Amino acid sequence: MTVSPNYIRIFDTTLRDGEQSPGASMTSGEKLEVARALARMGVDVIEAGFPAASPDDLEGVRQIAREVGNTPGPNGAPPPIICGLARAHKGDIDQAWEAIQHAARPRIHTFLATSPIHMKHKLQMDPEDVIERAKEMVTYAKTYCADVEFSPEDAGRSDPEFLYLVLGEAIKAGATTLNIPDTVGYTTPDEFYRLIDGIMKHTPGIENVIVSVHCHDDLGLATANTLAGLRAGARQAEVTVNGIGERAGNTSLEEVVMALHTRRPVFGLETGIDTTHITRVSKMVSNYTSIPVQPNKAIVGANAFAHEAGIHQDGMLKHESTYEIMRPETVGLNKSALVLGKHSGRHALKVRLADMGYDLEQAELDTVFERFKALADKKKVVAEADLEALMTDSLYQTREIFTLDGLQVTCGTMGLPTATVRLTGPDGKVHIHASIGTGPVDAVYKAIDHLTHIHGTLLEYSVRSVTEGIDAIGEVSVRVQADNGDVHKRTSPQSGREQSRTFGGHGAETDIIVASAKAYLAAVNKLLVATGRYTESD
Ligand code: KIV
Ligand code: ZN
Repeated sequence: MTVSPNYIRIFDTTLRDGEQSPGASMTSGEKLEVARALARMGVDVIEAGFPAASPDDLEGVRQIAREVGNTPGPNGAPPPIICGLARAHKGDIDQAWEAIQHAARPRIHTFLATSPIHMKHKLQMDPEDVIERAKEMVTYAKTYCADVEFSPEDAGRSDPEFLYLVLGEAIKAGATTLNIPDTVGYTTPDEFYRLIDGIMKHTPGIENVIVSVHCHDDLGLATANTLAGLRAGARQAEVTVNGIGERAGNTSLEEVVMALHTRRPVFGLETGIDTTHITRVSKMVSNYTSIPVQPNKAIVGANAFAHEAGIHQDGMLKHESTYEIMRPETVGLNKSALVLGKHSGRHALKVRLADMGYDLEQAELDTVFERFKALADKKKVVAEADLEALMTDSLYQTREIFTLDGLQVTCGTMGLPTATVRLTGPDGKVHIHASIGTGPVDAVYKAIDHLTHIHGTLLEYSVRSVTEGIDAIGEVSVRVQADNGDVHKRTSPQSGREQSRTFGGHGAETDIIVASAKAYLAAVNKLLVATGRYTESD
């Protein structure tokens, strides 16, 4: 099949560069769900992880390779390429291959730093040795896999002349994609354009490979730099959903895809992404990682299509294009005037959810309907934002090891804040414990720690109201780190150091203490799976 010269391959690294950033940890089951959703959206390459990080990471990538890597894409397209990251070490490359080999279209991605600062301080290698190692490791990766990507790490701060040499040798050794990372988000769009343009003009053999760009957002320029790189001739963009990633994050998938889509005459480039999946995948990633999307985030922020200011509303009523450059439906956000309340039936709910892009199986509809009825009893009007919160809370929860069965708290200015928590355990038995704390949430969390035998440090806790009004649903997000054991450690590909994994949880309820309990329990359930004491199918 011939590919148009204007086709941009979307290489999604949410499950690698995104997931390795602090607090973005997902369980293997969640990663598999995200990979399926990325494949349905039409992503060309899924970087499923860094298999050498830990046995858990290797297994997660293997699962994705086996399943998603063998499922045809949308409209009869081939399955997505499944990629595993490896440092320029034989051991890493062996593990990457072990993880991805069962995919129909596997890719090994190996990288080595090329900037003076990285070569001197991190690698402690001479430039000549870096060229030699890059050549050797691409050659080694080729013994396993025809599709090999090579990245000169910190290319944004590397000497372009040196890059031409390293990249030329990587091509000779058999690399099929050359990825140019602005690892520390340092370059400006003009500089990045010139860097890619220079590589296109001066690297021997460049016409036989795909050039890729991979930008970080430390100066808020990742999307602009990526687009500049594409204009200069790169034909693969490495991106993450919601722009999650190391430090300030990576280039966001939705921004690049929608910029190319909305300003097609400017760029003259196309992708294979079905943009109507963007909103759902964004919510899924936000819920699984417990990293909320900032309200004013382009494309997927809660306010991205809200027109609050009176002057804007007036213009919008006259004609949508006055203030709207994209239709919300294009990114899968469907607005409907239909109001739901306590008299709305299952069919009305189903129609409304379908309108919002949720096509539910009967069992899923039953679960959501039950929760909808309970909510409608408390609230007069159930808004679309309430339904979104219910949906994400019901659909994107990890398999529960312990479930919340009951909760009572006393708090206030008299006496000690006390919580009685009732959980159903994996043995099917009911366990009850009462604890005191500095406040009601602390008391609940202490009782959960006692019942699950997990002692977590709460690193982050946030609560937000989904709609306005005193009866609004409260959404709680937490990030938790286990205090004991080393089972949650994994190696960072860049620093080579071991990192402690942290887990996020999410809960939505009109009672924010119940939402807090659910969020914490969700994170604890993930921790329990990571300890190996339970599996996600227990
Ligand atoms: O930012 C970076 O340099 C990376 C490489 C591993 C490609 O993520
Ligand atoms: Zn990166």
